[in-house]
Amino acid sequence: MTVDIQALLYLIAAAAFIIGLKRLSGPRTARSGNRIAAIGMLIAIVVTLIDQQVEWQWIAVGVIVGSAIGALLALRVKMTEMPQLVAAFNGFGGLASALVAGAEFINQAPTLSTETVVAVILSVLVGAVTFTGSFVAYAKLQGIMTGAPVTYKGQQIVNILIVLSLIGLAIWTGIGQVPFPFWLGGAIALVLGILYVIPIGGADMPVVIALLNSFSGIAAAMTGFVISNSALIIGGALVGASGVILTRMMCVAMNRSLANVLFGAFGSADSTGSAGPASDSGKTARSTTADDVAIALGYARQVVVVPGYGLAVAQAQHAMRELANRLEARGVKVSYGIHPVAGRMPGHMNVLLAEADVPYDALLDLDAANSLLERTDVVLVVGANDVVNPSARDDSTSPIYGMPILNVDHATTVVVIKRSLSAGFAGLDNPLFYMPGTSMLFADAKKALTDLERALADV
Ligand code: TAP
Repeated sequence: MTVDIQALLYLIAAAAFIIGLKRLSGPRTARSGNRIAAIGMLIAIVVTLIDQQVEWQWIAVGVIVGSAIGALLALRVKMTEMPQLVAAFNGFGGLASALVAGAEFINQAPTLSTETVVAVILSVLVGAVTFTGSFVAYAKLQGIMTGAPVTYKGQQIVNILIVLSLIGLAIWTGIGQVPFPFWLGGAIALVLGILYVIPIGGADMPVVIALLNSFSGIAAAMTGFVISNSALIIGGALVGASGVILTRMMCVAMNRSLANVLFGAFGSADSTGSAGPASDSGKTARSTTADDVAIALGYARQVVVVPGYGLAVAQAQHAMRELANRLEARGVKVSYGIHPVAGRMPGHMNVLLAEADVPYDALLDLDAANSLLERTDVVLVVGANDVVNPSARDDSTSPIYGMPILNVDHATTVVVIKRSLSAGFAGLDNPLFYMPGTSMLFADAKKALTDLERALADV
C-alpha cells in the first residue's frame, strides 16, 4: 500500500470516529454513530495490518478469542453493571498501550529520539495507572472489594512522594534510556493506580471511570506517536478529550469539583438500596396504595415520570412503559423528566427507557421538565431520590446545595415509588417525602408499576 493511500484511509477512519462521536451525543442518532465509528475502527485496523505486514495467525487467534469474549459479555452483562464493564475495557486499553510502548523501548533503546522516548514514558506511566486504577474501580463496583473509601494516615503525602519519584525516574529514563528506571517507574505507576483509586467512594466510581477512560485515550495517543500511527493518535486524542468533557459534565451536574470527587471520600454509603427502617427523624411521610395512585393518574391530564437509580435496580422500565401505554390510551399525556446524573452512569435513564421503546420525544431534559412540572397534575418519581431533593435548591447547609434538581415539588401531586425512606447515593434525608403534596408508595419499583397498571384497569 502506498503511503498516500494509507494516509487517505486513515483520514477516512478518523472522520468516521469524529462523525460517530458526534452522533453518539443524541439517543436518536447514537446507534448509527456507534456503527460508523466501528467501521472507522475496522478500516484503521485493516490498513495497519496490511501496512505492517504482521503475522496474521496470531492476530486471527486474538480476534476470534476477543470477539467471543466480547459477544458473551454483551449478551450477559446487566445494564446496572455497565460502569464496571467500561472500567475493565479502559484498564485493558491502558495495558495494551503500555505494552506496545514498552516493547518499542526494549527493541530500540538507547537509540530512541527524544520525542519518542518521552511518548514511550508517558504511555507506559499513564497506561499502567489506568490499568490498575480501572481494576480497583471494577472491584469496588462489582463488590469484590469494599466500596467504602480506604484511607490511612499520611495518604496524600505518600501519593505525592510516589508522583515525585515517578517524575525522577521518568527523567532518568529519558536521559539514559536504561532499563532499570524504566521498569521501576512502570511498577511504581501500577501501584499508584491502586493507591489513587482506593480512597474514592464506590458510588463516585462512574466519575473516576470517565477520567480513567480519558487516561486510556491519552496513553493510546502517546503510543500512536511511538509507533507513528496517525489513526491511533487521532483515536486516542478523541477518547482523551471526550473523557475529560464527560468527567466535567458529571461534576457540573452534581455541582462538585473534580478535587472533591477524587479526594472528598464522598458518597461512601453506596445506595444499593436496603429496605431499612424509615429515617424520618420525627417527621411523618404519608403512605399510599396502588389503588389510590391509579385514581390520581387515571384522571390527570399530564403525568411526568421521574426515573432514578431504583428503576434500574428493579429493571422496571418495561413495566413503566406498559403503565404509560395504559395512561395514554385514556388520553393522559405522559412525559419523562431526565436528570443528567440520575442513576449511576451518564445516559443511564435514556438507555433504560430506550430499551422499553419509550419515544425520544417524550424525554425532557432538566430545563424542559422543570417548566412542565409547574403545570403538572401528577408526578411519579420512580426510584429517584437525590435528583428530586429540594434541599439541593433550598438548604444552603446541605452537602448537595447547588446541584440542579427536578422541581417535582412544584407539581400539584407527587407520588414517590421506593421501598423505604432510605437515603440515596448522597446519603441524605429528603424533605420531599414529608411535604403535604407527597405520597409514598412503598414497594419495589417493578411490583409497584405492575400493580398500578392493573389497578388502572378498574378506574
Ligand atoms: P439515588 O439518589 O441514588 O436514589 C435511588 C433510590 O432508589 C434509593 O433511595 C432507593 O430507595 C431506591 N431504590 C433502590 N432499589 C429500588 C427498587 N428495587 N425499587 C424501588 N426503589 C429502589 O438515585 P437518583 O435520584 O437516580 O440519583 C443519582 C445519584 O447518583 C445522584 O446523587 C448522583 O450524583 C449520583 N451519581 C450519578 C452518576 C451518574 S453519571 N448518573 C455518577 C455518580 C454518582 P429505597 O432503598 O428506599 O428503595
